[in-house]
Amino acid sequence: MYPIRRKRRLRKSAALRDLVQETHIHPHDFIVPLFVVEGKGVKEEIPSMPNIYRMSLDEIQKEVGLLWKMGLKGVLVFAKVEDRLKDNAGTEALNPDGLMQRAIQTIKAAVPEMVVFSDVALDPYSSFGHDGIVENNTIVNDATIDVLAQMARSHAQAGADVVAPSDMMDGRVLHIRKALENSGFPDTCIMSYAAKYASSFYGPFRDALDSAPGFGDKKTYQMNPANRKEAMDEVLLDIEEGADLVMVKPGLAYLDILRDLHDIIDVPLAVYQVSGEYAMLRAAAEKGWLDYETVMMEQLLAFKRAGASIIASYSAKDAVALLG
Ligand code: PBG
Repeated sequence: MYPIRRKRRLRKSAALRDLVQETHIHPHDFIVPLFVVEGKGVKEEIPSMPNIYRMSLDEIQKEVGLLWKMGLKGVLVFAKVEDRLKDNAGTEALNPDGLMQRAIQTIKAAVPEMVVFSDVALDPYSSFGHDGIVENNTIVNDATIDVLAQMARSHAQAGADVVAPSDMMDGRVLHIRKALENSGFPDTCIMSYAAKYASSFYGPFRDALDSAPGFGDKKTYQMNPANRKEAMDEVLLDIEEGADLVMVKPGLAYLDILRDLHDIIDVPLAVYQVSGEYAMLRAAAEKGWLDYETVMMEQLLAFKRAGASIIASYSAKDAVALLG
């Protein structure tokens, strides 16, 4: 009751505000998405994602050294696959000398302690740009998870610490877990994109990898943005199937889902601040309508406050640089 309780007392000075701050951003919170391309000395900016680059392996090697020095502990690797290597079965995904496999090896050789998360999904390899095998215009589940399990094993073989299935097929976590156990990789973790919505915020990412679906959309496998309870079901299933970490994606528009999950699950919870979220922020900043740095930090804090313990973000380096 006023004046016994005046909430402004604790806001009086910066030091006092620091002392009572409930949520903090730390370099260890982040995983950094990396886009890998073939070539040498290639570092090409993605037009809809200012300051984010597709990099060849020699550039990736330099980049991960820098990230490690900054205190960043994890990278999430995506490969841009050449058109001529794409087919419906995702054949190239299983190539032991494929770009993804070489990227994993390169990163682990450059910085052995860096935690390498590898994306497991067929879309960068698919001539249809879909996350699974297509038959009669539908994305078939069970044939796809067979390939995903082999793909995960191949990433584990190359040295991935965490395989990250982002495809939203049913049963793929269990299938991958069994494949890893049966092939001598019991310690390879699985981070499941467990609550992944059919979102229009992925647009810039699909430009980056040239992986937009050739027909239709992804609504028969990714979740309906209108659903909340369904996310709990998806996540609990994936944990039962053996997911070590689970992710919600996108981030900002799904903070309620993060909070719900934080309250009921005991495995680490990740969030992905996706390409469209990054692009919006950069575009508004370019126009001088928003301040990139402060709005970015506010958004990252929101993820922590909502319950995320790991944040995949294109702003990770910027955030860590600001933390000083
Ligand atoms: C596809 C995949 C997507 C993203 C990560 N993995 C796009 C999609 O589902 O179409 C999006 C990431 C981003 O937008 O930053 N398996």
